[in-house]
Amino acid sequence: MVGKTILTGVKPTGAPHIGNYIGAIRPALALAAAHEKSYLFIADYHALNAVRDPKVLREDSYQVAATWRALGLDAKRTVFYRQSDVPEIFELVTLLAAVTPKGLMDRSHAYKAAVDKNREEGRDADADINMGLYTYPLLMAADILMAQTDIVPVGKDQVQHIEFTRDMAGYFNNTFKPVFKLPECRLEKSGALLPGIDGRKMSKSYNNHIPVFMDSKMRRKLVMKIVTDSKLPTEPKNPDENIIFQLYTHFATADETETMRLAFEGGGMGYGDAKQLLFEVLERTFERPTAFYNEFMANPRLHLDDFLDFGAVHARKVARETLSAAREAVGLKPLH
Ligand code: TRP
Repeated sequence: MVGKTILTGVKPTGAPHIGNYIGAIRPALALAAAHEKSYLFIADYHALNAVRDPKVLREDSYQVAATWRALGLDAKRTVFYRQSDVPEIFELVTLLAAVTPKGLMDRSHAYKAAVDKNREEGRDADADINMGLYTYPLLMAADILMAQTDIVPVGKDQVQHIEFTRDMAGYFNNTFKPVFKLPECRLEKSGALLPGIDGRKMSKSYNNHIPVFMDSKMRRKLVMKIVTDSKLPTEPKNPDENIIFQLYTHFATADETETMRLAFEGGGMGYGDAKQLLFEVLERTFERPTAFYNEFMANPRLHLDDFLDFGAVHARKVARETLSAAREAVGLKPLH
């Protein structure tokens, strides 16, 4: 167990597929379990910059909560909450804004990319860019600093945000007094990319994905659709060129993987049998979570609101302490 605080935000992105599970969700759950304090939250105010349908925002947030809860997030170990349920974060944004140079926001990759795109398309540089997008790094810094976070596991695209967070914390600490811990980013290898059922990388946009949550019949049907060549069952096959085997390795035990490898290489494994074995390990992994997920989504108010409220209580506690110290540091009345 690492005696450090780890924190991550997830933006709602719709129903996950097994590639998301292996590349992002499972490693995040493992990291959370390995650290003394862990925070995981739904970045719904970040999502709001782009979402305009209240129903979508609501449903997407529930979907994230149901996903992580169904896949084993332990609320006693990980503080799991909605960003929007922790108002202290937004007050912290205001405090940080006072010491953050505008030029820092101007240098944000995400903002600059949006501006470049507008220019390329011959539009006004700031067309369709809202202040939420512009100040995205400010909110992200508040997310992180409020929990006195040590480590933020992120993908490559988020590294700049962590650097900005350290910059802002530094400006504040140097101007007033040391209130914020400077977080470090932990660059996650861009997650295992799984092949989809047609052999290209698994992606919703290729429609070749296997959803995490689906009923067993549908799951079986999808697995049976995996593309193979026409080798006979008795022909030796190279497992490393084989979609079924590649998927299998992520869900099977080491022994099971080795057995399938040897069977393929020795000419003792047909594609149909291998698909059945793959289906079985997927069932073993996702059948129960699917039942939970469906139960949660059928009544999110009962199963998810309390769950998230519980997390928010704990998140607000630490957020309040940090905010109070920051208020006091600048000459405002501390809380309490
Ligand atoms: N920006 C992150 C993303 O797009 C989501 C996020 C918001 C986040 N706040 C955060 C991640 C704080 C880590 C820490 O994926």
